[in-house]
Amino acid sequence: MKELELLYEGKSKQIFKTDNDDCVVIRFKDDTAAFYNIKRAVIEQKGRITCDISSMVLDYMNRHNINTHFIERVGDDGQLCRVVEHIPVEVIVRNVVAGSMAKRLGMDEGIVPENTIFDLVLRRSDLGDPLINDHHAVALGLLSYEELAKMYEMSAAINNCLIELYDKVGIMVVDFKIEFGRAADGSLVLADELSPDTCRLWDKETKERMDKDRFRRDLGRVRETYEEVAKRLHNVL
Ligand code: TMP
Repeated sequence: MKELELLYEGKSKQIFKTDNDDCVVIRFKDDTAAFYNIKRAVIEQKGRITCDISSMVLDYMNRHNINTHFIERVGDDGQLCRVVEHIPVEVIVRNVVAGSMAKRLGMDEGIVPENTIFDLVLRRSDLGDPLINDHHAVALGLLSYEELAKMYEMSAAINNCLIELYDKVGIMVVDFKIEFGRAADGSLVLADELSPDTCRLWDKETKERMDKDRFRRDLGRVRETYEEVAKRLHNVL
């Protein structure tokens, strides 16, 4: 595989063409942004660490029969991934009340609801990535009802897999965001990273935050905490 020209550059990733039209290389950057780019920083080594964590987690998903775009790690900060047709929605899976849900519904962070909560968000940063529901997604022509059902089924399986993995290293999966794509045969594929940048992870014992909230809320030790997550996962994988 040969890495060719840059196809796209976003806030935290670069996507490169390869000599195989079915694959791209995604490189993780050290740049970080929150609150729609209002708060920005460069966190040294973040690209390498989030790539490391996301590669371990997506490999674990692949081995548990969850269809992901991840093929293999390329160098320190890159992943060889399958090209998919990206679907412009985000699924947010919540096991514990936190973040925007706590704020929107006036709830305390840390409440554990009996059921898992699945939010659907339209990827339109110019509109503030609004919450939508299944009927909106179908009306907008983004997915069929059948695909939505499959997407929630996969999201629940991803959640179970993530909880099982992080449980082994003393970490609670509070919530996370995932995006999907369609493969050439129309099947749904998890096409996203799963790292402390996109998941809320709390230490089971101390409830210490081990994710991007450390950056969002100025809690300090962002890189060190991400490194601790990677270290714990390396111990069991
Ligand atoms: P929220 O509490 O802000 O809705 O976020 C829920 C989870 O989803 C949290 O783990 C952070 C993650 N997330 C992203 O990774 N990217 C996003 O654009 C959003 C809105 C949330």
